[in-house]
Amino acid sequence: MADTRMNPEAPPTPEHAPVFRKDYEPPRFLIPEVELDFDLRAAKTRVKSALTVTRNGDHDEPLRLAGDELRPLSVKVDGEDARWTLDGDDLVIPIEGDRAIVETEVEIAPDANSQLMGLYASGGLLCTQCESEGFRRITFHPDRPDVLSRYKVTMHADKARYPVLLANGNEVETGDEDDGRHYAVWEDPFPKPSYLFALVAGDLKPNRDHFTTMSGRKVDLAIWVREKDLPRTAHAMKALKDSMKWDEEVYGREYDLDLFNIVAVDDFNFGAMENKGLNIFNSRYILADQETATDNDFDNIAGVVAHEYFHNWSGNRVTCRDWFQLSLKEGFTVFRDQCFSQDMGSESVKRIEDVRLLRAVQFPEDNGPLAHPVRPESYIEISNFYTATVYNKGAELIRMMRTILREEKFRAGSDLYFERHDGEAATCEDFVKAMEDASGTDLSQFRRWYEQAGTPIVKANLAQADGIATLKLSQSIPDTPGQSDKQPMAIPLKVALLSEQSGNRIGEERLVMLTEAEQTETFDGVDEPVLLSINRGFSAPVRLQTDREDRELQLLAASDDDPFARYEASQELMMRALTAAVGGDPLRTEAVVEAVRKTLENEALDPAFKAEAIVVPSESMIGEQLEEIDPDKVHEARIAMRKSIADAMPELFTDLLDLEASGDDLSPDAKGRRKLRNVALAMTATHDPKTGAAKAKSHYDKADNMTDRVAALGVLSHLDAPEREAAFDHFYDRYRNDTLVLDKWFSLQAMSQREGALEAVEALSCHPDFNLKNPNRLRALMLGFASNQFVFHHASGRGYKLLADMIIAADKLNPQVAARMVPPLGRWRRFEPKRRELMKGALERIAAADGLSKDVFEQVSKSLG
Ligand code: ARG
Ligand code: ZN
Repeated sequence: MADTRMNPEAPPTPEHAPVFRKDYEPPRFLIPEVELDFDLRAAKTRVKSALTVTRNGDHDEPLRLAGDELRPLSVKVDGEDARWTLDGDDLVIPIEGDRAIVETEVEIAPDANSQLMGLYASGGLLCTQCESEGFRRITFHPDRPDVLSRYKVTMHADKARYPVLLANGNEVETGDEDDGRHYAVWEDPFPKPSYLFALVAGDLKPNRDHFTTMSGRKVDLAIWVREKDLPRTAHAMKALKDSMKWDEEVYGREYDLDLFNIVAVDDFNFGAMENKGLNIFNSRYILADQETATDNDFDNIAGVVAHEYFHNWSGNRVTCRDWFQLSLKEGFTVFRDQCFSQDMGSESVKRIEDVRLLRAVQFPEDNGPLAHPVRPESYIEISNFYTATVYNKGAELIRMMRTILREEKFRAGSDLYFERHDGEAATCEDFVKAMEDASGTDLSQFRRWYEQAGTPIVKANLAQADGIATLKLSQSIPDTPGQSDKQPMAIPLKVALLSEQSGNRIGEERLVMLTEAEQTETFDGVDEPVLLSINRGFSAPVRLQTDREDRELQLLAASDDDPFARYEASQELMMRALTAAVGGDPLRTEAVVEAVRKTLENEALDPAFKAEAIVVPSESMIGEQLEEIDPDKVHEARIAMRKSIADAMPELFTDLLDLEASGDDLSPDAKGRRKLRNVALAMTATHDPKTGAAKAKSHYDKADNMTDRVAALGVLSHLDAPEREAAFDHFYDRYRNDTLVLDKWFSLQAMSQREGALEAVEALSCHPDFNLKNPNRLRALMLGFASNQFVFHHASGRGYKLLADMIIAADKLNPQVAARMVPPLGRWRRFEPKRRELMKGALERIAAADGLSKDVFEQVSKSLG
């Protein structure tokens, strides 16, 4: 069959059949030019398309164009009515000769598009989302990333409702039409795949600025929002200019159009989208001011703005050949945005945050039924593969290559990659090859990171005798669905030895490449007792097991010169005591308490680092370490540990409440002081809930910024105190009309651990401000809730019931967003038997629901499988 990517051996339900990487074949037709004409109306939009198609290779197959919920109103080939057929959703058109102009006409209904893929309406705007396969919901097209075209787009719309008309590239013509309508024509000079197509029509106002590139070209920048939101766009604009500069300095990459537009929309399936010259954002990753956004929000905005901007090279100029290569653009771009944020703020704190995210989301994914390689071998619905594995583990792969090659050769590899593949659709292999060729380093074994799923387990033991320290290393990779008996990986481990007595490093840091299942590394001239500092900077995304004693970890927590390793030592100290306590041992707190005290008293450490290092690992992180999770026991152990820390040094925490940080100061230092102050507030309430409630309430009342307000509410949310209700009511009244802030009100309550929290979440799911159609609101409540291990996993199973009901209801509107809520239930095998059964039952109930989307079908069937 011509253009199909289906596997002939796939199961009989064609709409749920998997696609395989090995089945890739080049497109049968290329499309050098696309002309689109949109008669835009919210209820009914007419789309005319003219594709210049050219036969690719020697074959006589018909042209096959993908569609999704489309019916052709007319089909012409070279101006003549064509004989066409529909094969499932595909439009099949016979083409004579090697070149033709194929014109189609369809009608779509943006207003009725609740999937938010294709052309849809959001808050009075019309906008598009095409990645991965949304373009086929707009018009018939091959809609695969290896078909690149130049686009010319004409939009007609009512001038009063939609005064602003935007698309990719440059505006080349505008004018008025009859009946109060107007039109605009946009042309994008860069050939692009259909997933990067975008248009926006609406009543928007720009925050305009400009950037002069390294070669002296002036680029006009605009962030388009509703007029009332204009004052909240300054931070995003600054982040955009910083990103443009950073990409020039660090990667030598210059922006290529004279115009760069960003639009913020309220209804959006994920974070943002890198459409060429017209990025479209979830408004939560654009809008921010001191009054409404937390420090976290500000950091996320800068990170996402940078991410989408960086895609202009890593994604748009060089795109993906097929969707199995998604990590080619996403892993690399996440790595780039992580480094950008490290350079703009605190390098070590950003690294700690990124590793925490990896462990909280990617490690469980790699260790569960949905585990897949960074470059997957098959999928049923590609939207399900926009995962922490593809994004965040993918970024770790790039980071490891930089570690192995060192900075200079890594940059040479990146230059070669862009030079070789500019204007092309490339593969992960192309990237690794460029790195290899530019550096002369053999990366054959390293490639296994793209193929083998599962988080490697590395064991490390250090022994000392006769002036020689011997490091024994071993690795193993757990089985994952469809993969067993894995080959050893190439694992870059940064290692150093520290004097046990002085805590100083002995000799240089060493990069040890662990390539065998078992391997030994020796260090000469080691005449004193030493400590092992390993996987410094988290140089490899592995689970490390060492036989270091508590005493050694305590010393490392106090003196390791690698900030990450130091953080890690204090976290491991806590984690060991916690998992032992869950297993029935008495809770060992002495070493932990001393480590926390030392960290807090150390004047050389900055506040943000202190805050990270002393926070007790979350309940789900603890659960991740256990063979079998009993959420009640985990909760109990964690509370007990927090309490012993809080009770051991109440004055230290009270003193920290006086740390000064003015709300308008967004420097890393001020953010760090707020963070530490807010950790201290929580510890104060743990020590003494009554005065804690009063302090949190006054902290809330006095707050001049959202970070402090949210922190105070977070503390109050767990307390059974009148102050809690008062503060939450006040917050609701003050911000009920501010969607993004009201999301915080929902998620704070969803994460509460107080008695009655479950009932409160159930009630919130029926609250008049709850809205199943708005992905941000749905995620605020349900993903917040599902991450609240103690409450979500309530022994009654009511949490599971609520989530399953929500998934079934959401699936009818928006399959992509519904499917994102399945993984928390997919962890069922990890829980104690009673919960295991309840979770499995909830999944089975979803599986039995009528008309399940392929998105939810894939996640649920794999979770049960
Ligand atoms: N490319 C976008 C980004 O990472 C995300 C697109 C997500 N698409 C999807 N179908 N989930 O910036
Ligand atoms: Zn991306």
